[in-house]
Amino acid sequence: MTRVRFVQRDGSEKCVELDRDVSVMLAAVRNGVSGIDGECGGCLDCATCHVYVDATQASSVLPPSDEELELLSAVSGERRPNSRLSCQLKSLAAIDELVVYVPETQS
Ligand code: FES
Repeated sequence: MTRVRFVQRDGSEKCVELDRDVSVMLAAVRNGVSGIDGECGGCLDCATCHVYVDATQASSVLPPSDEELELLSAVSGERRPNSRLSCQLKSLAAIDELVVYVPETQS
């Protein structure tokens, strides 16, 4: 089972287990991770689930779809090369632990 480590801007961390077929966004919301809003429920309609995937792991996850790339242009925090919408991060069984950083703002 994949574990996701959410790192806040102040350095605090929270680790959650990621059930199969559950997105990183949903795991965050269900476990009360601060700073991941997921307002649209994962429909690629809000960009409030923005995270930065650890740079060393960016190539370990599937690349973003064209739709995700388009919505990433609407994130309110700084967009970086490792920016992802966490509702699109799932099926990570091959990864023991994914580290994601929560941006300064979501909206
Ligand atoms: S939860 Fe809305 S785009 Fe990810």
